Amino acid sequence: MSTFTEPDPTPLALMLLGQQADPNTERGIECPGDLPPISDPELVAEVRAAKAELGDRLFVLGHHYQRDEVIQFADVTGDSFKLAQQAAARPEAEFIVFCGVHFMAESADILTTPDQQVILPDLAAGCSMADMANIKQVEDSWKILQQHGLAAGTVPITYMNSSAAIKSFTGRNGGAVCTSSNAHQSLTWAFEQGERVLFLPDQHLGRNTAVLEMGLTLDDCVVYDPHKPEGGLTQQELANAKMVLWRGHCSVHGHFTPETVDEVRERVPGINVLVHPEVRYEVAIKADLIGSTEYIIKTIEAAEPGSKWAIGTELNLVRRLALQHPDKEIVFLDRSVCFCATMNRIDLPHLNWSLQELRRGNVVNRIVVDDETSHWAKVALDRMLALPGVNSANVSGD
Ligand code: 13P
Ligand code: SF4
Repeated sequence: MSTFTEPDPTPLALMLLGQQADPNTERGIECPGDLPPISDPELVAEVRAAKAELGDRLFVLGHHYQRDEVIQFADVTGDSFKLAQQAAARPEAEFIVFCGVHFMAESADILTTPDQQVILPDLAAGCSMADMANIKQVEDSWKILQQHGLAAGTVPITYMNSSAAIKSFTGRNGGAVCTSSNAHQSLTWAFEQGERVLFLPDQHLGRNTAVLEMGLTLDDCVVYDPHKPEGGLTQQELANAKMVLWRGHCSVHGHFTPETVDEVRERVPGINVLVHPEVRYEVAIKADLIGSTEYIIKTIEAAEPGSKWAIGTELNLVRRLALQHPDKEIVFLDRSVCFCATMNRIDLPHLNWSLQELRRGNVVNRIVVDDETSHWAKVALDRMLALPGVNSANVSGD
């Protein structure tokens, strides 16, 4: 008979368990306390009781990619834009438990009052895309633009999926944040401020929005690679570019290929292909509709019974939509499984653990952004929140 042996608490093991911070990523805070057991039949009842006891002092936000076992306890579900708005809209809640990833929790901390405390149930819930740009690399790219005399005409726009430090850099340098539901409005605003955009860190969202929604061409876009000297671009290439796209991407959405679209269309005649704008351009141009997670949900809700949909985004959301809409045929765009590993770090044991600690008066896994970073990041976030028409989800047809 085999017995289970607790792994040694090496830095790697602790990091994988969410108890250690990695200074090279956008995560940065040690996780105190003991981990909960991995399975406990009482957990659902315990979470319910903790929520009832904490009442209005607690506000739980849940991103659409969260597991069912977690999303059932969210007071509000949404895409990253809606959750940022909602975090700012509840000044009376003492504790904001963010069931999402680290950059979202940071934004919530920036947008809430100093008395409110934001909690991320597992500190290992980061984002591999956000990690593809660090502040040093971004500052270096700006220096290069300055040396070439191009920074003054360049407006930095950072996707929500970036560290608070990068949002802060963006605010300090006249730019704004965007999310997948308002990248079009954000870029329109940016081109009113300058002639060129430095778009961080998702090249695909930047390219798809610029080319498919704003009429720019692929030739207007260049890719800045932080691992190459001078970003791998000449002064002339930077000067000619309208969109300087950071070389970052989402590994979950990067999974979809043009062939997966062809394959599903062949397999299910008449199917509509609906994808998130983090997919590659070659996939986006083959899709029927593109939009944020909130847009994807609204599109399916409004779809005719009997209609057929292949959805290219994270699997938790696609699976949930398929279960909620049995009158429509909903399939995952790819045949292979595609969860976001870091979103999935937030599970019921971690959520329960953070709530039980709150019940005992202990705030665990608090996400705090320092005042200086927070000030300029808020400038960039507020610019986004003030953009006209940001509440309408983005769409592009084929
Ligand atoms: P949304 O802005 O659609 O919520 O997407 C966030 C995200 O991380 C998608 O990968
Ligand atoms: Fe980051 Fe991609 Fe996960 Fe979204 S799906 S949180 S972009 S790794």
